[in-house]
Amino acid sequence: MLGNFSYHNATKLYFGDDSLQYLNEELPKYGKTVQLIYGGGSVKRNGIYDAVVEILKANGKTVVEDAGVMPNPTVEKLREGVRIARENHVDLLLAMGGGSCCDYAKAVSVSVHCDDDPWEKYYVRFEEPDCEIVPVACILTMAGTGSEMNAGAVITNHEQKLKIGHVFGEEVMPKFSILNPKFTFSLPKRQMVAGIYDIFNHICEQYFSGEDDNTSDYLAEALMRSVVHSSLIAVENPEDYEARSNIMWSATWALNTLISRGKSTDWMVHMLGQAVGAVTDATHGMTLAAVSLPYYRTIMPYGEKKFARFATEVWRVNPEGKSDRELAEAGLEALENWMKQIGVAMNITELGASEDVIEDIADATIILDGGYKVLTRDEVVRILRESL
Ligand code: NZQ
Ligand code: ZN
Repeated sequence: MLGNFSYHNATKLYFGDDSLQYLNEELPKYGKTVQLIYGGGSVKRNGIYDAVVEILKANGKTVVEDAGVMPNPTVEKLREGVRIARENHVDLLLAMGGGSCCDYAKAVSVSVHCDDDPWEKYYVRFEEPDCEIVPVACILTMAGTGSEMNAGAVITNHEQKLKIGHVFGEEVMPKFSILNPKFTFSLPKRQMVAGIYDIFNHICEQYFSGEDDNTSDYLAEALMRSVVHSSLIAVENPEDYEARSNIMWSATWALNTLISRGKSTDWMVHMLGQAVGAVTDATHGMTLAAVSLPYYRTIMPYGEKKFARFATEVWRVNPEGKSDRELAEAGLEALENWMKQIGVAMNITELGASEDVIEDIADATIILDGGYKVLTRDEVVRILRESL
């Protein structure tokens, strides 16, 4: 049965190869001082930085630089961003980059006017913001996380070997996001592919829960087929605008809360992947890819019918003469073949993990209960060993 829900998405999107100009429409709605958030410099190399600064200046904004947001942003960087925002009394946090910059901007937004330490408040105690929130906006340069249209913000604490996400309320979502598929052309292929797998797995995490006839599942299947189709074009020709725009748009819809409506949702691949990320600092999408197959093969017997449907509806496996179990296995085989074809990480060894960190990763794994099987710690350890 489709569960009860409310649905509202608070982010305004501008999509397309002319979308940056709409910054001119949005900027007048905010105060004078803009904290310009970006990563390790890709936006300077591909010209996005110059184009954005020109528009900010033309709109009379004072630009406060906040550079160096690393992939998997750390709690130390978060505290620095909060300090910059406080010292400069910023009115808008404008993130230029992928999920890391956008997540980071959200984490800063809820911390600027709060006295508590952000890690303790949001990532240990999971409290909701009770202070003024500085508005966030995003100019997306990498498709994958969906952070451009959701309220998630993942922060890594290396000292504690923890990588934790907080899904805030809609007041923390970007007020607007600008999505120009051409901005993603300069991504290294490995990052593009990691993003593609991240998108696909976001859909899986919501799909592999429940056994009912839910519209969200039909939407999920269509999105998965679009991602697979476009990914095969994009790995051959990364500058295929149609494929890259479909990937970008699918990423947004994969995690902007639409396809989770009425579903319990799983998220265990993300919990395992985040724990791998906490210990190895590996690329997010690759951590998911590396643990996915051992995880899905573990839970498949508990959700056999859905895995069979995954085979026929997403991978077009011919059901004739096959039992549900055989279909389910064929679907996972098709998934494995596609993963190898696009070139994602197939194990955590290639991400720098080894037997001696398995217990650490297991300790960092949060066990959730929305999917087909609540894992035991022993199963977590076994899945991680099978992922080596
Ligand atoms: O730092 P720069 O120099 O910009 O380089 C980045 C970075 O090294 C590079 N890059 C991005 N756009 C580029 C580019 N290089 C060349 N050309 C471009 N156009 O790509 C690298 C990775 O960027 P990052 O933002 O880290 O990647 P992604 O978008 O995958 O974000 C990962 C973070 O998002 C979190 C992850 O855990 C991770 O911390 N997630 C956020 C979610 C959410 N908000 O809902 C959900 C996800 O499941 C995920 O957990
Ligand atoms: Zn993800």
